[in-house]
Amino acid sequence: MASCLVTGGQGFIGSALTRALLERGERVAVLDLPDPPFEGLEAQGVAAEVELIEGDLIDPGKVAAAIDGRERVFHLGAVTLVGPAAADPIATYRTNVEGTWTLLECLRDSEVQAVVVASSDKAYGPSPELPYREVQPLTPVSPYEGSKAACDEVARSYRAIAGMPVAVTRLANVYGGGDLNFSRLVPELMAAVVSERAPQIRSDGSPHRDFLHISDAVAAYLAIGNLVAGGSGHGEAFNIGTGDPVAVRRVIEVVDNLSGGRLRPTVEQEQGAVGEIDRQFVDSSKVREATGWEARVGLEEGLEEALGWYTERAALCP
Ligand SMILES: NC(=O)c1ccc[n+]([C@@H]2O[C@H](COP(=O)([O-])OP(=O)(O)OC[C@H]3O[C@@H](n4cnc5c(N)ncnc54)[C@H](O)[C@@H]3O)[C@@H](O)[C@H]2O)c1
Repeated sequence: MASCLVTGGQGFIGSALTRALLERGERVAVLDLPDPPFEGLEAQGVAAEVELIEGDLIDPGKVAAAIDGRERVFHLGAVTLVGPAAADPIATYRTNVEGTWTLLECLRDSEVQAVVVASSDKAYGPSPELPYREVQPLTPVSPYEGSKAACDEVARSYRAIAGMPVAVTRLANVYGGGDLNFSRLVPELMAAVVSERAPQIRSDGSPHRDFLHISDAVAAYLAIGNLVAGGSGHGEAFNIGTGDPVAVRRVIEVVDNLSGGRLRPTVEQEQGAVGEIDRQFVDSSKVREATGWEARVGLEEGLEEALGWYTERAALCP
């Protein structure tokens, strides 16, 4: 039984990962803000089983207390939405970059066996080279992209300067039950079905994304945690996705079908959402070769799971 820390564990991916770690018998502590945007640990039904440390990632005292004695650290805490990141780039860089180096500095002389840091496929920026491969340079444009690229570089540099057992994940667009960020596409579609209203869609439906189900995302974190704790993958970045780009329009269609035609989408905007990249998907062959991980959940199956989750929690849906 390992002692694990999940930063950002109140969030979508962090809370699902926390639940999965608990199900495997690990001990889990979570570091998150005292007033997180939502309480993912409650939504996952695991709040009582977790040691919750309330604090900011840029507070070295809190972080030092949170990492004490941990064998595996999963660093997911971040400003994660593109719009708020553009509105307040300084706060975004502080949390996403300073927060990352604060954590890594605190871990320098610890006995930690694995540190897995969340970067993003957005760190590649609007690169025309598709699918993204780990050997490509990171060419971010927006503050969110820039902050994830910087966090990615900072994390990998700790392998060189401190011999740290650290790896970086570059996940594609994660969706599924448990995401309470209703400004994102899938939660908004689900809330619209459950609340019987028209969804707000911030593009013309043409952007293509690599939609990865939350269960596949969690499985990837567990696999990379094991890889790093086993002595491999240090200083490496790993893309995590399906490799199959899907148009936003197609996601809307599937949700409409699953809801028996109750969705009634109106796509108002003529172009893609401002500041978002038009087409993105990743090549995940590196993580597959290193760990055997691959995405298993297809889009229809994943959206059906999500619809069931939100339907059971209608009170959470705006
Ligand atoms: N969701 C995706 O599609 C996706 C894709 C690629 C990468 N990522 C990355 O994965 C990670 C998790 O994403 P998510 O979707 O679960 O995000 P989320 O927004 O649901 O959760 C982020 C969590 O971080 C916490 N946090 C923010 N600032 C903090 C601070 N200063 N100190 C402590 N905690 C803080 C928030 O309170 C929240 O609970 C992020 O690093 C994100 O950049 C997400």
